[in-house]
Amino acid sequence: MSNTIVLYYSATGTTKKAAEQVAKQLGADLAEIHPVKPYTATDLNWHDETTRATVEQKQEHDGRVPIKDDLPDLSGYDNVIIGHPIWWGIPPRLIAATIDQLDLNGKVLATFGTSSSTGYDRAQSNIARTVKENGYQLDLQQGDVLNSPAKLSAWVSSLQLK
Ligand SMILES: Cc1cc2nc3c(=O)[nH]c(=O)nc-3n(C[C@H](O)[C@H](O)[C@H](O)COP(=O)(O)O)c2cc1C
Repeated sequence: MSNTIVLYYSATGTTKKAAEQVAKQLGADLAEIHPVKPYTATDLNWHDETTRATVEQKQEHDGRVPIKDDLPDLSGYDNVIIGHPIWWGIPPRLIAATIDQLDLNGKVLATFGTSSSTGYDRAQSNIARTVKENGYQLDLQQGDVLNSPAKLSAWVSSLQLK
């Protein structure tokens, strides 16, 4: 077992591929985050502002979307990496629910996104706020959008892991 785990949520497969590459480069374990209620194609149509994902993303910052209780026990891991798509500039609300559910005290936490074009600034602030809301004492690293193999490799190399 590695001391690093990559957790990811991916609605349409892009983040899954990136997470697999990150895990491969680090020799890390890999696990998928599942929403209690999976997203349908209609839910994900962000060109229609009345659809589920868009309505959820436009909630106040403390909005949460519940996840299944099927994540691995993190007690043996020093480093936790979370990958997610960018939805309306920030991580899907189920990422905050994931951070709530895990005990991340004392760990290194690094997060990354994939997107069509949006960068990681707002996502980083969103993650930092969720960490603060939980009162975790942890080492939060700078995230990035990993939209190309070169960016992915560079980001993985920049990580300061235990
Ligand atoms: C509801 C929704 C909102 C999105 N919002 C953004 C956005 O704000 N900026 C952007 O560049 N891409 C946005 N996208 C595109 C996704 O970030 C991009 O396709 C991502 O790589 C999908 O990852 P996945 O295949 O792992 O789900 C959005 C997609 C969806 C479904």
